[in-house]
Amino acid sequence: MMLAYVLFFFAFKLIKGNDISSVFDLNIYSCFVINALLLLFTYPLLFVLEKVFGFTSNITLVELSNTNNRLLRKMSEEAPGTFQHSIQVANLAAAAAIHIGAKSQLVRTGALYHDIGKMENPVFFTENQGGFNPHSTLSYEQSAQVVISHVADGVRLAEKNNIPHVIKDFISTHHGKGKAKYFYILWKNEHPDEEPAGELFVYPGPNPFSKETAVLMMADAVEAASRSLSEYTEESIGNLVEKIIDLQMQEGFFKECPITFKDISIVKTVFKEKLKTIYHTRISYPEPNDIANKV
Ligand SMILES: [Fe+2]
Ligand SMILES: [Fe+2]
Repeated sequence: MMLAYVLFFFAFKLIKGNDISSVFDLNIYSCFVINALLLLFTYPLLFVLEKVFGFTSNITLVELSNTNNRLLRKMSEEAPGTFQHSIQVANLAAAAAIHIGAKSQLVRTGALYHDIGKMENPVFFTENQGGFNPHSTLSYEQSAQVVISHVADGVRLAEKNNIPHVIKDFISTHHGKGKAKYFYILWKNEHPDEEPAGELFVYPGPNPFSKETAVLMMADAVEAASRSLSEYTEESIGNLVEKIIDLQMQEGFFKECPITFKDISIVKTVFKEKLKTIYHTRISYPEPNDIANKV
């Protein structure tokens, strides 16, 4: 890089200069050398600045979002369904973040890590199951506890792997203080007049507290639900996005977020457009006979 600068400068001087001696002025070239040495220290300096002032730069976020890094590669091998879900959530959430002026790189990186806790027990999550469902051997309370524990497991894994706290926030808030609804509803159906003891079916939280964590919570729920749609039409996708996000608002998940109704409306529109594009390609090809009949 430095050599390219020097050569360019040398050529420029040769073209412009009247005095050939100025082309070989070593003082100028020493500036290039100093510049190159300072560039060498950029990364260590950035690391020191991040530690001292407690912020996470976009360079670090981009590095963390490299799916070839050790932790994400491990997730792709041990929990491939969760990895695929995280990539889809990252794309949805980052697109929405751009449209509402939130930090899209932060959201993208946070989304890639939000479910890393599932690596501890991958087969207990539908997206990683290949037939056998281990929940069939557990009570509803036990199943809810295993599912809920992916948040605490994720935070622990993040700490163990030195993931910055701004990313840990996405892990701890992506289910907020919501319920593990699937198992809660099954339990309630069997105990219609009772309430479960303690917080057996409730995620520890906290609820999202920034635009970025709110967008991730919306993208996560919408992406997961979109997989179970029976048909992918403009109407079914639109209804799904509206229903999921309206329910999250009613449950008060965004009360501590600086996110506006206008922002949420934009987020919904972006999700609908993105999901339509994602599922639009799923057309069925005609049989050879159909082609022959039309020719
Ligand atoms: Fe999750
Ligand atoms: Fe998720």
